[in-house]
Amino acid sequence: MALINRIAGYADEMTGWRRHLHEHPELGFDCFETAEFVVERLKEFGLTDIHTGIAKTGIVAIVEGQGDGPTIGLRADMDALPIKEATGLPYASKIDGKMHACGHDGHTTMLLGAAKYLAETRNFRGRVALIFQPAEEDGGGGNVMCQEGIMDRFDISQVFGIHNVPDMELGQVETTPGPIMAAVDGFDINIKGVGGHGAYPHETRDPVIAAVSIAQALQTIVSRNHFSLNDLVVSVTMIHAGSAENVIPDTAYLGGTVRTFDKSVQDMVETRMQEIVAGQAAAFGVEAELNYVRNYPATVNHPDETQFAVETAKEIVGEARVNDKAGREMGAEDFSYMLEQRPGSYLFFGAGDGAGLHHPEYNYNDDLSPIGASFFARLVERAQPL
Ligand code: NI
Repeated sequence: MALINRIAGYADEMTGWRRHLHEHPELGFDCFETAEFVVERLKEFGLTDIHTGIAKTGIVAIVEGQGDGPTIGLRADMDALPIKEATGLPYASKIDGKMHACGHDGHTTMLLGAAKYLAETRNFRGRVALIFQPAEEDGGGGNVMCQEGIMDRFDISQVFGIHNVPDMELGQVETTPGPIMAAVDGFDINIKGVGGHGAYPHETRDPVIAAVSIAQALQTIVSRNHFSLNDLVVSVTMIHAGSAENVIPDTAYLGGTVRTFDKSVQDMVETRMQEIVAGQAAAFGVEAELNYVRNYPATVNHPDETQFAVETAKEIVGEARVNDKAGREMGAEDFSYMLEQRPGSYLFFGAGDGAGLHHPEYNYNDDLSPIGASFFARLVERAQPL
């Protein structure tokens, strides 16, 4: 491991920031105290070009380098999860039912560590845009910051983001050019039939049979409409109907999730779902309405920026610890919106043994903070050298 010495020297201070953030988790767009804490630190580092209130509580802060050059964007997420913490740690969440169970407190800390170093040393050309976003878990804060125009407003040329991963060796780095995390879509299907007595089904238009048949037929999108080597998940996760043994209900409801990496596959799935739902409804003499919602798009790494990030990571953690051919994840990430607007890359950083992300016993490893901060800082110095 070849951390930046100066950043290694911030380790205790970074742990202090991280544990303070951990004790005070906030959800969604309501990261008010978190943003205030971040701004206080940035001011301590001597930064003055700080823009708050973007996507409600998001921040973009500029670090000026020496001389002309582009603006590189570094992004951290700040929001927590509605989970009751079960770690029993002395710095556990002080807010019942809210917890930093995805390590976004650690991501914020890494970017603060890099900010402190970059503000002290300014050993780069151009500028750095430090992007602190709310609402990664739910609500798409990254999307809202993009919609509010941060890329043009701050003239950002490329963007980088990272995520900690428990149960991956500390300091192991994994990424891949191209799609790395899936697009996540949601759907619901409302079926309207004609209910009646369970003993006289011939007098009804049974929505339960239609719902079951639709659920089965939707599975053929993956097995029969889709090229088998391109990842796709279609999961029906909810079926609700009926309330009594001897009553055929009027309505039934289906819901679920779709995960894709490719817009053409996403379009195909939505079209086939429309066709299947309409066809099945006609077959059973019921009405059925599909509501298909596209949420976070796939996170797609740009090849050149990923190669550059991989080389930078090798410098920090050593060549043997970097895997640039990692498998795709079916989870999703709203950094995807930033990568749709600017070239860049997203990387996973191993955090060592421990409970998984979004688990009530998850415990971010503070030893990762100086590694992530060194990576961010070296990205800037290598991308925009003096
Ligand atoms: Ni996360």
